[in-house]
Amino acid sequence: MFTSIRVRIFLFYMVLFTAVLLVFSIAIFEQLKTDMYSNMDEMLISRAEGIKGSIDAYREAEKLEYQKDGRPFLPINELDMSEFVSMAVKLLEEDEKYDPRLVKFDIELFDRDGASIAHSNALPYQINIPVQDKAEAILGNISFHDYVIEVNDRKKNDMRVFLRPVTEDGRVVYLVQISTSLSNLYTSLNRLRIALFVLLPLSLLAAGLIGIFLTSFVLRPVDLMINSARGMTGMDLKQRIHVPKTNDELQHLAEVFNELLGRLDTTVGAQRRLIQDITHELKTPITVIRGQIEVSSRRERSGSEYRKILSSTRDEMGRLGKIVENLLMLARFESMEIKLAKEEVDLYFIAAKTVKNLRVLAKKLGIRLSLSGESLLVCGDEMYLESLAVNMIENALKYTKSGGTVEVKTVKRGRFGVLSVKDNGIGIDKSDKAHIFDRFYRADKSRSAEGYGLGLSIVRSVAEAHGGTVSVKSQAGKGSEFVFSMPLNIKNK
Ligand SMILES: Nc1ncnc2c1ncn2[C@@H]1O[C@H](COP(=O)(O)OP(=O)(O)OP(=O)(O)O)[C@@H](O)[C@H]1O
Ligand SMILES: [Mg+2]
Repeated sequence: MFTSIRVRIFLFYMVLFTAVLLVFSIAIFEQLKTDMYSNMDEMLISRAEGIKGSIDAYREAEKLEYQKDGRPFLPINELDMSEFVSMAVKLLEEDEKYDPRLVKFDIELFDRDGASIAHSNALPYQINIPVQDKAEAILGNISFHDYVIEVNDRKKNDMRVFLRPVTEDGRVVYLVQISTSLSNLYTSLNRLRIALFVLLPLSLLAAGLIGIFLTSFVLRPVDLMINSARGMTGMDLKQRIHVPKTNDELQHLAEVFNELLGRLDTTVGAQRRLIQDITHELKTPITVIRGQIEVSSRRERSGSEYRKILSSTRDEMGRLGKIVENLLMLARFESMEIKLAKEEVDLYFIAAKTVKNLRVLAKKLGIRLSLSGESLLVCGDEMYLESLAVNMIENALKYTKSGGTVEVKTVKRGRFGVLSVKDNGIGIDKSDKAHIFDRFYRADKSRSAEGYGLGLSIVRSVAEAHGGTVSVKSQAGKGSEFVFSMPLNIKNK
């Protein structure tokens, strides 16, 4: 299942999306929680300051009155505490009466030893702060604490408590404690938590559906390509796979694949043609041999008759052998099996040797065969270069009438050595020119001469294997010139 790109992309996308959403949700939740707490703490602080302010104002007013009467005004810590307590109780009562607030705060005052002296009436329960928490305040430090208060058997209330010591002349004189319920804050946070937990799977579901749609959309061209490739058979390489017009890598891939199919089609086609050609070409000599044997075996023959038949059979066998040999050489060239010798050879020397060997034939045909030129040192395989020269000169003799001339020349042309064979024979039609280097191709006019149409294929293979080229200039009825050219040896340049 995980081998499908579609599934892999989808899973990757989902894991990524889940992680992003989770991180995002947790961050939002934590930020909001921090903000809510700090808002609440600010309110607690301002409430405590308010209470302290009221007490200060009361004391200030009292001070004026004492001064008017000439009575001594005592600092809080020297006061009879009951006086301060009754003042605090009165103040808290008034505060509650005239100051209805949206957020309910409970207020309690403690003396400098931590004993409760007054509390707002709204406080239906006692918040018994642990001694160590109160000790901090008695030492003069403000502090915040969260407590779970039991309201009754079943109900518990979470409270946040702020302790604010009030000092006079550097000494703690009383403590203000402001507390408020955390239930609203918890409810809001819980609602957010639930919303996020519901939203998360819902967004994942939506993202999943979008993901499935997107991957299907993106991979649709691939599906089409797969389907069209499935419909192909090994035999029919003319078919092409579907090319998506997406102008991207997929389109490029499909095009490259189709080009490959095209090349395969050409190669397979050529091979098929080759097999047809070979069977066709081999059939004729085999039929001839079989016919001769059949005819000769019908009745008793004389010794000379048998000799004649056997010699003709040997000729046919020789031709067969030559075809097979040539084909084998071509096949080796094509499959790059041939390892060419890389020795220093002289093209002029090769041409001279070939001309010498063919001189008798030329004389017999009544053709003037001439050789001219200069030494051309190249790096190559003497045996194959010789067969190239033989094929080119043999052709010139074969397709030139008696009384004609064949000129073999070697010349330097820049960094290349050129071997040319020029005749004034029958020439080649324009329509044939493009095909004469193909295997088994023979122009109709040459059918009277012997041959299989393999010579020039060999010439071209040998030329190419030596990093060279072979070309032809010809005019029907006037003659032809075959030009072989290959890089010269460094010494000879
Ligand atoms: N010098 C030439 N003048 C005119 N036609 C030529 C010449 N050389 C080659 N051709 C044409 O090109 C064809 C192919 O030549 P190629 O040498 O491949 O085959 P071939 O000579 O017919 O047979 P093979 O060389 O196998 O005995 C020839 O059949 C002929 O029609
Ligand atoms: Mg030939």
